[in-house]
Amino acid sequence: MKVLVATEKPFAPSAIKEIQPIIENAGHKFALIEKYENPAQLHEAVKDANAIIIRSDIIDEAVFNAAPELKIVVRAGAGFDNVDLKTATAKNVVVMNTPGQNSNAVAELVFGLLIYGARGFFNGKSGSELKGKTLGLHAYGNVGKLAAKIAKGFGMIISAFDPFVPADLIEADGVKVYNSVEELYSSNQYISLHIPANDKTKKSINHTLLSKMPKGATLINTARKEVVDEEGLLKMLEERNDFKYLSDIQPDTASELLSKFPDRCYFTPKKMGAQTFEANNNAGIAAATQIVNFFESGDKTFQVNK
Ligand code: 3PG
Repeated sequence: MKVLVATEKPFAPSAIKEIQPIIENAGHKFALIEKYENPAQLHEAVKDANAIIIRSDIIDEAVFNAAPELKIVVRAGAGFDNVDLKTATAKNVVVMNTPGQNSNAVAELVFGLLIYGARGFFNGKSGSELKGKTLGLHAYGNVGKLAAKIAKGFGMIISAFDPFVPADLIEADGVKVYNSVEELYSSNQYISLHIPANDKTKKSINHTLLSKMPKGATLINTARKEVVDEEGLLKMLEERNDFKYLSDIQPDTASELLSKFPDRCYFTPKKMGAQTFEANNNAGIAAATQIVNFFESGDKTFQVNK
């Protein structure tokens, strides 16, 4: 089988050094395309691939059409909103993710952004500490859980809203549970987003919700830009000069927001959440292993298009 690693944003070279032998030692052929500049290059690379390992790469119908031999796509990471699951299922292609493998990297970045915001983007003036401040985790999956653990070290007061995780599991971590998203937003100075982007969540972080946040509010987004309603965000920034938005994903309106609110908006130049050697290695090794197991025994653990 031919296993292609197709990453516009490359893994660390150390991860490729781990992935390649996992593929080859199982008797498969390894191929790599990185930093491709347009979909045509990706279409050419996938034409004889039986498996693909990707990151945030867009795997749409055109990619599936260009890859008639494809059996499995593994998204080395958590979010799979970049893969057209409907087409994958229609074409009998298994899609998997590698949950948890890059979560620590993302959770740590939350605190990089939190401190950067609390210290006024390092502008030399007195900022504030995180100790004793309220942090609301919007969703309590792998990243939310790790963020709670780190927040404890900072002495923050932590709460969460996640209708998909039993309250007692969250409370066992010493985290207060809110039963409504509105309560979470009205009770926390800092909100950190950990929801996936799907039809239900897209644009769900809107002006009505944001305007519930207390004075000195900051929204941290290491999840997906699509979950924030950018019109509502702009309105909130215009109305509330105490509100900050720090995101690991450039919003569509990034240049407007940065020019209007340079001291209250910050966006990493490239999505950096999962960009650590450790996360690349963990997610890459998991992806390669899942592909080998799939071809060896039909193992479909972590399939997301069921
Ligand atoms: C994920 O969903 O796993 C993260 O958003 C990481 O995305 P990346 O692999 O493109 O950095």
